[in-house]
Amino acid sequence: MWIKALELRNFRNYESLQLFDLSPRVNILVGQNAQGKTNVVEAILLLSVAKSHRTNKDAEMIRFEEEFAFLQGLIERSERTYRLDLRLLPKGKKSAVNGVEKRKMSDFVGHLNVVLFAPEDLQLIKGGPQQRRRFLDVEIGQVSPQYLYNLTQYQKVLLQRNSLLKEIAHKKVGAEMLMIWDDQLAVYGTKVIKKRLEFVDKLETFAKDIHRRISGGKEELSFHYQNSLDCTELVQLEEVYRKELEQKRKVDLLRGSTSTGPHRDDLEVRINGHKVQTFGSQGQQRTASLSMKLAEIDLIKAEVGEYPVLLLDDVLSELDESRQLHLVQSMGEKVQTIVTTTTTFGLEHFLSEEANVYRVEHGIISKEG
Ligand SMILES: Nc1ncnc2c1ncn2[C@@H]1O[C@H](COP(=O)(O)OP(=O)(O)OP(=O)(O)O)[C@@H](O)[C@H]1O
Ligand SMILES: [Mg+2]
Repeated sequence: MWIKALELRNFRNYESLQLFDLSPRVNILVGQNAQGKTNVVEAILLLSVAKSHRTNKDAEMIRFEEEFAFLQGLIERSERTYRLDLRLLPKGKKSAVNGVEKRKMSDFVGHLNVVLFAPEDLQLIKGGPQQRRRFLDVEIGQVSPQYLYNLTQYQKVLLQRNSLLKEIAHKKVGAEMLMIWDDQLAVYGTKVIKKRLEFVDKLETFAKDIHRRISGGKEELSFHYQNSLDCTELVQLEEVYRKELEQKRKVDLLRGSTSTGPHRDDLEVRINGHKVQTFGSQGQQRTASLSMKLAEIDLIKAEVGEYPVLLLDDVLSELDESRQLHLVQSMGEKVQTIVTTTTTFGLEHFLSEEANVYRVEHGIISKEG
């Protein structure tokens, strides 16, 4: 699939942007710092997953002094074309697909699939568990709207349970209500964990392959989902979950928060059996992160039947030449790529005849050549 056209109004520093002639192959956005390159990447991500990678507050993305922002993308897929509309309002957002309003965001998400690779992704391995959980949630959410729904329900129940824990601790209410939230938490939490396990398994297959190639056959990459519930039998998961919630109730009441569940889980990455976060060199950590990200391209192809759009925000300069080359090879001829950079110097691999080059200056984009 590829993005044929993109239109933005009052989004970040764009008053009005119309890109009608994107290349199905390589598109390079060149510009100095703070000109609006990442803003375009963010807009494309919003059209895909309805969430920004930089903020949780939609209102921040509305152009200063304006009332609302409007984003539109024309998506070409092998079978059909989609027009995606997203309107950001000071409170909440509205979406439509081919002119039909979608009341649930989970019905909007998934028409456009993207894989975003940004400098902070090079920290995926090194960073905290929260970053890896977010990685899992965003990536699974793209291929499974059902997962997004279950995750949202889980998060809602978790918030409610936590506030109830505090009320009970302050003797404002009795503990009876807790049972109801425990039950709901176990139902949705189990669904979230099961889907994550399934995803991690699939992603590993692709990532292993890529990592083996990048490391010249020397390194074996593996993923290990760290479940905060002590349970290896999937059929018993929900049962075990309920029991754990019960057992940890005292601790939870003391802390005023829930100590077990997918919001505490992690993804451990190993090279040749050793945890990369602890034992890996910086180069290994970067390569492992890159393999994880590139694996998503293959995974989405396998799940959705089409390649996603690859967004490379400012990362090329962070990779050495051999990793850059792998990136190009992995995209092959099939993946639409949108690259941002402050300079085209050193990007010879990407500057094929089919590449469109755009200059980004103060929220205005002009095509070069
Ligand atoms: N809500 C907003 N309204 C207007 N302008 C905004 C808004 N949010 C951010 N900006 C502006 O957008 C610019 C940053 O854009 P962006 O992050 O896309 O830069 P960039 O080209 O990616 O730069 P870099 O190379 O440093 O990453 C800043 O000048 C910032 O003031
Ligand atoms: Mg940027």
